[in-house]
Formats: sequence, C-alpha cells, structure tokens
Amino acid sequence: MADTVLYPIDACVFDAYGTLLDVHSAAARCSDALGEKAAALSMVWRQKQLEYTWLRSLMGSHADFWRVTRDSLDYALAQVGIEDRALRGRLLEIYRILDPYPEAHPTLARLKDRGFKTALLSNGSPEMLSTAVDRAALGPLLDHVLSVEEVGIYKPHPSVYQLAVDRLGLPAARICFVSSNGWDAAGAAHFGFRVCWINRFGQVPERLPVPPEATLTELSELPPLLGRREHPS
Ligand code: LAC
Repeated sequence: MADTVLYPIDACVFDAYGTLLDVHSAAARCSDALGEKAAALSMVWRQKQLEYTWLRSLMGSHADFWRVTRDSLDYALAQVGIEDRALRGRLLEIYRILDPYPEAHPTLARLKDRGFKTALLSNGSPEMLSTAVDRAALGPLLDHVLSVEEVGIYKPHPSVYQLAVDRLGLPAARICFVSSNGWDAAGAAHFGFRVCWINRFGQVPERLPVPPEATLTELSELPPLLGRREHPS
C-alpha cells in the first residue's frame, strides 16, 4: 500500500502515561497552589518516577506504580521546597484521573473503525489503569488493558512487551507499539514490535537500540500510517 508506512499491522498497543494520559495535567490543575513551581515540580516528579521504575527493576525490589508515584512525588516536593500534606493529597488524587490528550479518543476510535485490535500496556497498577481508563471513557475503545503487575517488573524489560504478544495472540511483527517515551519506544523496538514514537515533547532521538520506524508529533497522525487492517477478525 503506497500511502502506508507501517504495514501489515493487526493491533496497536499504547503506552498510557505521557502517551494517552497527560502526566503534566495534575500539576497544571494545582497551579493555584504551586504557582511558579508547577512546571519544575511536574518535571522532577515524572523523571524521578521513571528512574525509580528502572532502579527498582535493577535492584530486584519491585513495588507497584502507585507506590513509585507517591515516592517520586515526595522527592519532587522536597526538591522544590514544598511541605504541604493537603497539596500532596490533591496532586495524587488528580493523578488517578489524569486528562487524556484530546486526540486519544478520536485516534482509538479511528483505529477500531479500521479493524485494528487495541490495547494499553503500562507500568500503571491495575487499579490506576482501570480508574484512569474509566474516567477518560477509553474502555470501549480498548480490547485489553495490560499492567506490568502481571510480570512484576517495569518497562523496558522484554517480559512486559511479551505480555502484549501473549494476550493479543499475535506475533510482535504484526503489532504497532505507540509511545511518547523515547526509551519505551526503543525497548519495544528492541523487543521486536513495529514502533511509532509520538515525539510530542520535541525531544532529540534516544541513543539506544533500536530506533522507531516512524516518528510523529501527535496521535492523530497514526491512523493514516497504518491504513486498514487486512483481515480483521
Ligand atoms: C507507562 C509509562 C512508561 O504508562 O508512561 O508505562
């Protein structure tokens, strides 16, 4: 198919945090209390959250993503010099119901219309994911919601990506993995998925094996790359 780049694909598997769900919306919604510290708090919170997933995986000391999210928020609040239990509680409550990016819903709907299977594959705990998916009304557009808790280690461990292969019952080469996290895109491509990196934050490419097959700036650019599923079941 001349106008498609990723072909043939049977399913699209999405990262959740930063890809479908706006991780910076929690601090933005508390900007009344955070003031000029909102952006710094949000950046440190996200970076520490990811670091803790990698470090815990290397240390062999897994704890679920809700614990990691709380610990990294505590680190970030201390780093920017805020001590406020009520604000901490408010940020965490909002994190459970993060806003989806505006293109998330229409993109998933378009992919379903074209016959693709869809799934979420995330570091999030099952409870975090089901709360966020319900709140964002994404449930009817996802065939599977998969959490790393099933394997007890974080991305980019290959056993996490294998979970999607097993659940979808499809070879990795027929699955398009979509993430806005460059390191997650690299991990998924290294595993063997066809990968689309949504570079919505304008980051420079990772120096990791393996580069993504396609780089887009937002989710709505994805369906045209995939065309239509050839033999939908
Ligand atoms: C996730 C993180 C990586 O949802 O954003 O898995």
